[in-house]
Amino acid sequence: MSAKQDGREIPKHIAVIMDGNGRWAKQKGAMRSFGHRSGVQAVREITEGCSELGVDYLTLYAFSTENWSRPQKEVDGLMSLLIKTIEMELSTLMKNSIRLTAIGDLKGLATGVHKKLLGAIDVTSRNKGLNLILALNYSGKWDLTQACRSICGEVIKGTIKPEAIDENLLSDHLSTKRIPDPALLIRTSGEMRISNFLLWQLAYTEFFFTEILWPDFRKKHLNLAIDSFNRRERRFGKTSEQLDLK
Ligand code: FPP
Repeated sequence: MSAKQDGREIPKHIAVIMDGNGRWAKQKGAMRSFGHRSGVQAVREITEGCSELGVDYLTLYAFSTENWSRPQKEVDGLMSLLIKTIEMELSTLMKNSIRLTAIGDLKGLATGVHKKLLGAIDVTSRNKGLNLILALNYSGKWDLTQACRSICGEVIKGTIKPEAIDENLLSDHLSTKRIPDPALLIRTSGEMRISNFLLWQLAYTEFFFTEILWPDFRKKHLNLAIDSFNRRERRFGKTSEQLDLK
């Protein structure tokens, strides 16, 4: 069951496409790196907001498999920002009992980032509060591909029979196994696309798009997204009348 607050249903899992750092910086005549650094404050606010509201899982799309094709300087800047942010925020994660995990092709990250990330995942692993999931070197197509590869390997070994492959089995081979699908997806900056995020997992997710650029995103915007979520009728393929019978 999802948590309730002020009579509102709080989504169990919120996923966020944090977009608009570059445009935010450009509007201020600053470098893109300034936009990314300023985006960290929004990450902090939203993590704290979700933690206070009783959200169980918050997934942030921090670096996609396609982001490697950005200028090398920007990629390097994002990676060092990630290391620095993990170092700076670790004590706050512990204080608020936030458990950090990550999804994506983590072995493809530079050794320094990988090590720092695994260290923080380990240190926070016994925390019982919000699960903060960073999607890093992640894409939905990558996730589905690695799941297929893993299932095929097991079929060849004889540990899975092809007729046993169903939606649950596929879900269990995705990097999000044991994590419920997002109830709400938020994308900032006015863009209205999924950008290769959680392609399988977003099948019945409610989408909330806002013009706010990521560095300006605050708790009040999170609350607007949750209010909008509460106005939706989630039918999962059924009719309204069927839902009324419950
Ligand atoms: C998209 O804005 C943002 C990113 C690709 C990176 C997101 C990273 C952060 C918010 C900072 C670090 C995060 C963590 C979790 C420590 P964009 O650059 O695509 O903006 P644009 O579309 O306006 O160019």
